[in-house]
Amino acid sequence: MKVAFKKYRDETWDFQTANTKQYTHCFHTYLAMMILQVSRRILDKFGKGSALLFDPYCGTGTSLVEANLKGINAVGTDINPLARLIAKVKTTVIPVELLDSQLKDFNDFVLSIRLGGKRIHPKIPKFKNIDYWFKKETQYQIAAVKVYIDEIKDKDIQDFFKVAFSETVREVSLTRNNEFKLYRMSEEQIEAFNPNVFSIMITKLIRNINGMAYIVITSPPYGDSRTTVAYGQFSRLSNQWFFGGNKTKEVISKIADIDRNRAL
Ligand SMILES: C[S@@+](CC[C@H](N)C(=O)[O-])C[C@H]1O[C@@H](n2cnc3c(N)ncnc32)[C@H](O)[C@@H]1O
Repeated sequence: MKVAFKKYRDETWDFQTANTKQYTHCFHTYLAMMILQVSRRILDKFGKGSALLFDPYCGTGTSLVEANLKGINAVGTDINPLARLIAKVKTTVIPVELLDSQLKDFNDFVLSIRLGGKRIHPKIPKFKNIDYWFKKETQYQIAAVKVYIDEIKDKDIQDFFKVAFSETVREVSLTRNNEFKLYRMSEEQIEAFNPNVFSIMITKLIRNINGMAYIVITSPPYGDSRTTVAYGQFSRLSNQWFFGGNKTKEVISKIADIDRNRAL
């Protein structure tokens, strides 16, 4: 029996104009990345009520991030250690204040080298073709950033910095732009190419921190207690037992000291 297949186009799967870099999806480019909207739609269709998503070829973790955003736990495996690092960092929520504070510290480190004349002597690795892919000054700056990252105590924050570092290394190398394979720039391009490793690294860190900052799932308070939901009155009797008398006036007066309008 001959089976007739009908071909048809479903334009709703075309995400050409969609923002594919939301949240932590903006962290690091990679090859053949899944489009987050595809993963999201599949999860909407088939993932309801699921407890766990498993992606055996997770790459940089697009499906893992999307599962987590829906409150589904996710496990990913990949043969490529760089992909595993990126996937881990994209799915590990770190308080933004900690990242901001580390970024400030990194800025100080960079300023002390660039303006303060601090000279550090980082060990430049001797891997094959290093001079073919990186200019000498670039090698020094990359190695200096590496020294800083190696000294970060908190492993999650250190990994967060490593992801920005990895992308920076590709960008400051003498590889042609927008190519995944390694092709060297032309001699004229090399001549004119003097990337600033520190600024590129800082730009990536800021972008990634912003991506992380958006992962706040919250239900904000509705209006104030007089007009809508009376959180204060609802909790008062219990709170008085826990914490003593009514502190409302005291708290309002402290708010008024900072911003009178907010205390009204
Ligand atoms: C198409 S990519 C996945 C991209 C991912 N969906 C993303 O959005 O980043 C396929 C992945 O399979 C991984 N891979 C290839 N052979 C593998 C193997 N034998 N075991 C585990 N992972 C493997 C590659 O390293 C690559 O990251």
